[in-house]
Amino acid sequence: MMTETLKITKVKESKIDQVDFSNLNFGTVFTDHMFVCDYKDGGWKSPEIIPYGPLTIDPSAKVFHYGQAVFEGMKAYKDDHGDVFMFRPEENFNRINRSAERLAMPAFPKDYFFDGLNQLLNVDNEWIKPGAENSLYIRPFVIATEYGVSASPATEYRFIIICAPAQAYYSGEVRVKIADKFSRSADGGIGFAKAAGNYAGQFYPTELAKKEGFQQVVWTDANTHEYIEEAGTMNVFFRVNDTLLTAPTNDRILDGITRKSLIELAKSKGIQVEVRPIKVTEILEAARNGSLKEMFGAGTAAVVNPILGFGYKDEKFELPKMDDAYGPMLKKALKAIQTNQAEDPFGWRYEVPMI
Ligand code: COI
Repeated sequence: MMTETLKITKVKESKIDQVDFSNLNFGTVFTDHMFVCDYKDGGWKSPEIIPYGPLTIDPSAKVFHYGQAVFEGMKAYKDDHGDVFMFRPEENFNRINRSAERLAMPAFPKDYFFDGLNQLLNVDNEWIKPGAENSLYIRPFVIATEYGVSASPATEYRFIIICAPAQAYYSGEVRVKIADKFSRSADGGIGFAKAAGNYAGQFYPTELAKKEGFQQVVWTDANTHEYIEEAGTMNVFFRVNDTLLTAPTNDRILDGITRKSLIELAKSKGIQVEVRPIKVTEILEAARNGSLKEMFGAGTAAVVNPILGFGYKDEKFELPKMDDAYGPMLKKALKAIQTNQAEDPFGWRYEVPMI
């Protein structure tokens, strides 16, 4: 195990006292430390935990020019006894390596990933606050650090994990615009990967949607714009009558861990779930005839976020207020598992060893 070899350099003074934990803006305040590990000469070198701070990287590094970068989003939770948990971390580990492979980057070793996370969460344990609304958002990422602007995969990389105490991702109401012109991903592309550029490519269309009063774009298939895919930071679910619908994942859509957990959770509660291609016209029709009861997004950062309305071309639709809404019920049940407030029949919770 690398526990012996992981070098830890602690900050001289923690900045935790300067943080207002009741008023956090998502992903803007980071903990005292970060995990770093370099790849060079065909292998990953000795990992370290060091004080959080700026990096020195050659301006010609390929990450800056070709976006050779992948990332993950994970969360840690603390229960009332001070025990710390992550949610299905193995899924994130597998996914970052699937993303890395697609971007011609080397796989990261599993023991480095888990030992790095465990040690970092121990060192920055004070930053993880108990309570259902609190979590520590964990952002592992890999960037191509080799200098030189030739357009080919780098031979040097840095794997980093940073952490940010978090509450809600969206602080206000969420309405979405269904895409009819721009696309997020295409067949055979990198849509399934958590590649940095997948997100940058959404910024411009999302800014246009924001000007019309929407917070997110729901992407449709690039070929026809007839089928629903995902929203940029979340997978999307629709409740038509009492059935929950979500699109199947494929090489264009992120295989969301919250998404697949909600599918299992909903089924275990007797809700009928259909994972199948969803036509935009079907959703419009359901909105018009009143059978569209709910929409919500699902993702690590957002958890389950109700969508109050949507737009398509020039039309806008508002969803009804439901007393027995599935979204909030599933969110509560999922968070109870994540924060060790409920039994975990699925085996999703991972307890972080306290060292
Ligand atoms: C996550 O839910 O972790 C995401 O990847 C969304 C992020 C882009 C804020």
